Amino acid sequence: MTSRVDGPLKVTGGAKYGADHNFPGMAYGYVVLSTVANGEIQAMDVTLAKSAPGVIGVYSPFDPLELRTAHSPFLGDTWVPLQDKEVAYYGQPIGFVVAETYEQARDAAMTVEVTYLQRPALTSLQDGLPSAEDAPGRGGAPSSLEVLADGVESIEDALAASPVVVEATYSTATQNHAAMEPHSAVAVWDSGGLTMYSGNQAASLQAMELAEALNTDLSSVRTINPFVGGAFGGKGHTSVAAFLAAAAAKVLDRPVKVVLSREQVFTATAGRAATVQKIALGAAEDGSLIALRHDSWCSTAMDRSFVEPTSHGTSREWYATQNLAISQKMVPLNVPPTTFMRAPGEAPGSFALESAIDELAIALNMDPIELRLRNNSTAPPGNDLLWSSKHLDECYSIGAARFGWANRSPNGHEDGDWLVGVGTATAMFPAIRFPATIEVTLRDDDTAVVSTGGADPGTGLLTVLSLVGAESLDISPSQVVPRLGDSAFPPGGMSGGSSATASAGSAIMVAASHLIDELLAVAAAPGAPFEGMEVSYEDGRVLAGGRSMTFGELLRALDRPSLSATGSSAPGEEMTKHSFSSFGAQFVEVKVHKWTREARISRMLGVFDAGRIINEKAARSQIIGGMIWGVSAALHEGMEIEENGRIANGDFAGYLLPVNADIPQVDVHFVQYPDTLHNPVGAKGIGEISVVGMAAAIANAIHNATGIRIRHIPIMIEDLL
Ligand code: MOS
Repeated sequence: MTSRVDGPLKVTGGAKYGADHNFPGMAYGYVVLSTVANGEIQAMDVTLAKSAPGVIGVYSPFDPLELRTAHSPFLGDTWVPLQDKEVAYYGQPIGFVVAETYEQARDAAMTVEVTYLQRPALTSLQDGLPSAEDAPGRGGAPSSLEVLADGVESIEDALAASPVVVEATYSTATQNHAAMEPHSAVAVWDSGGLTMYSGNQAASLQAMELAEALNTDLSSVRTINPFVGGAFGGKGHTSVAAFLAAAAAKVLDRPVKVVLSREQVFTATAGRAATVQKIALGAAEDGSLIALRHDSWCSTAMDRSFVEPTSHGTSREWYATQNLAISQKMVPLNVPPTTFMRAPGEAPGSFALESAIDELAIALNMDPIELRLRNNSTAPPGNDLLWSSKHLDECYSIGAARFGWANRSPNGHEDGDWLVGVGTATAMFPAIRFPATIEVTLRDDDTAVVSTGGADPGTGLLTVLSLVGAESLDISPSQVVPRLGDSAFPPGGMSGGSSATASAGSAIMVAASHLIDELLAVAAAPGAPFEGMEVSYEDGRVLAGGRSMTFGELLRALDRPSLSATGSSAPGEEMTKHSFSSFGAQFVEVKVHKWTREARISRMLGVFDAGRIINEKAARSQIIGGMIWGVSAALHEGMEIEENGRIANGDFAGYLLPVNADIPQVDVHFVQYPDTLHNPVGAKGIGEISVVGMAAAIANAIHNATGIRIRHIPIMIEDLL
């Protein structure tokens, strides 16, 4: 159990987030947002704003800051504001005011008069279904995929031939990331170029995007983000705040700070798509799946820049079935952009699939765990590559015992005025890693530094660097100084796709092994303390001929302050040998009040097979956060979009999130099987899987308690009347 190395700084206010940076002469920017959902800006009257107290600059599509579409190899294109007069959604950044103070910038921004040529807006996924377009699946996979058994003509034939069929349509709401730290940026230019302080998921990626957008050399952009107050995918792309701050600071030749208000975060960033999903399951009487069809529609912005791959993320990989057909379509709407959000694809996809599996279990009169294990896959259907490791069955057996699943009754039970039910669902998220480079340095005071340009958005990566660094160098974690969140460090992968520990950890091991080789070489070099001897390394010491020195002692003897090495790691040959995923089993007990119909979670348990867990304390905390987010998705969260495209509940008064009183004790258990077929560290990834399956487990528990099957989230009181 290791506490976060950055914990004390975070709880004492010592941690400096992006907006906490202040510089002499700093000006403040405020973003102006559109108030129509579709149209063209015909005029923007900025006369009042320009003459308002303290105003230094007013920018609009008629008088823009110079920015180019940003491109990065990981994230593709990122939209930049003010470059044209088109408005594609309500709340789109269309102007920018810079003043001496934040309040002056905000006041002046309120006086900007915009004239639009307004066009009818399409804002509801239901209304947009007829204009759906084929969408790529995960990783650019084709929009649809069919795997049929020999002799089977179509998925419809396979369903028709199935003795038991369930078929239903599910839907999920659009969500905002609602990270504690709103998107913000502080930009400072000097003769060396731009320094940007702005929370993101990879300093090196943000530097790349900024360099592209500003048409400047990558070497003249440095981004610094040692602390990030939550990201979840919503800080993958560089924010509008950062683009505008950087461009304005350049032309004004002073530091500029931009902080989005909470309301602005709801539209000026990007969120989770709404989805509609049709699922049909055909099974034999013994529960074995004969056919699985999953057709999905997701909302997307008019620029079609992101697809929520619900079908590809779930049905492609979850169950062994003889026949599989999946398709993915997107529906361009006049709504704020969509992007990655914790378990993109799997989170909403698992609500549909794992609800449908529960419906099938009921149709078969079979225990839902037994049905899932009967169809437990050894490889994704249509793929010859077996899972590198899969202990889902153990997650279920341990979970069922811990949770008391055997006491479940098919129709729930009553406890005073409460109807009590339990539900379960499978969780899966692919194990991913990205190319990463890490620098490890030994210092003459017997400490070591581990540095990466990667980010710690609250996940605990900083502590992972110290733990894996210590293990790789065979020293104590207290001797390791971890550093991250600075693009001046080697590019360390990104904190996304639940990949950071596997990516950075593997690179640390490579760097440390190079460094130890180097240390031994200098120890035995001519004139060195172990000249010409057969040296070895153990416990932070160099050994030979019956004596030893710590690396610090050796460096001091050599008069070298430090010794460094870098190491890189990237996905390689293992990708041709196995399929990789984390797995889990979610259990929930729900109480629905007989008279008020409010649903409250009374118990939650998640059991996960995520390979080796490096720091169980932080891992448990991360998993709890994801499970709570699952409760939130199931019972609270959803953006209400008015017909005119305005978000009716775009603030923390109207956008419901669970509070302490909504969440019971959360039980988390890991079955620990290090997966060294995936990467040398053996960690498979825990960031996203914890939210997966939660909404279905809750809907299944509500059904168990009340007999009411709700096929959309969030589930509201009025659904249970
Ligand atoms: Mo995650 S949605 O890849 O930050």
